Amino acid sequence: MNKIKIKQMFDFDTLTYTYLLWDESINESIIIDPVIEQLDRDIDIIKKLNLKLLYILETHVHADHITSATELRQLTNAKICYGSKTGVEGADILFEDGDKINFATHEITAIHTPGHTNGCVSYYIRGSIFTGDTLFIEGTGRTDFQEGSSSNIYDSVRNKIFSYPNETIVYPCHNYSGLLNSTIGHEKKFNPNVGDKISKEVFLEKEKRKNRPYPKKINIAVPANLNCGKV
Ligand SMILES: [Fe+2]
Repeated sequence: MNKIKIKQMFDFDTLTYTYLLWDESINESIIIDPVIEQLDRDIDIIKKLNLKLLYILETHVHADHITSATELRQLTNAKICYGSKTGVEGADILFEDGDKINFATHEITAIHTPGHTNGCVSYYIRGSIFTGDTLFIEGTGRTDFQEGSSSNIYDSVRNKIFSYPNETIVYPCHNYSGLLNSTIGHEKKFNPNVGDKISKEVFLEKEKRKNRPYPKKINIAVPANLNCGKV
């Protein structure tokens, strides 16, 4: 079976990771969580590599940036995909928990992982899991806006994401200290929120005590992203 290439790309303003995955044997590709300000960069790399973009996968309705999904679809005819619980209008595919799609010979599984938002989805693709704002490297996404639930995020990570093998590579949507990826085994051992040694009660208490300002662009980004990034 051919190897999947993964290009991890960064938006400096919102510290967001976008992932381009492709299979060189037939040049099919998918993109995960693209950012509107980086549209030209992403189109440029897709063209240089001569890739056909099949799917635009969103892990959730982002509050910190607007997705380039609509523009990318116009330019490439790729299909926009979200979790079915997001309430998004205009997507081509709305995943239920466990739904699968393929690109090249690779299977992508959509896993409903609510908690940061109700509609959050993680994507498992051949030894890698793209966890959005559900599981970060030694952290978890915020649960204090957009239907956030610290109880749900704990259960999503512990019961669903942590059910994958320890060597599975974890690719988050953000990192605030320059780390790129992790593994399930590392997170079970060292994650201070949802690691093996942290009880749900302790996590819920800790989440309650957090008090942070809302993301700067939340009032613009959420309505736009509920329409696949149309402003
Ligand atoms: Fe988010």
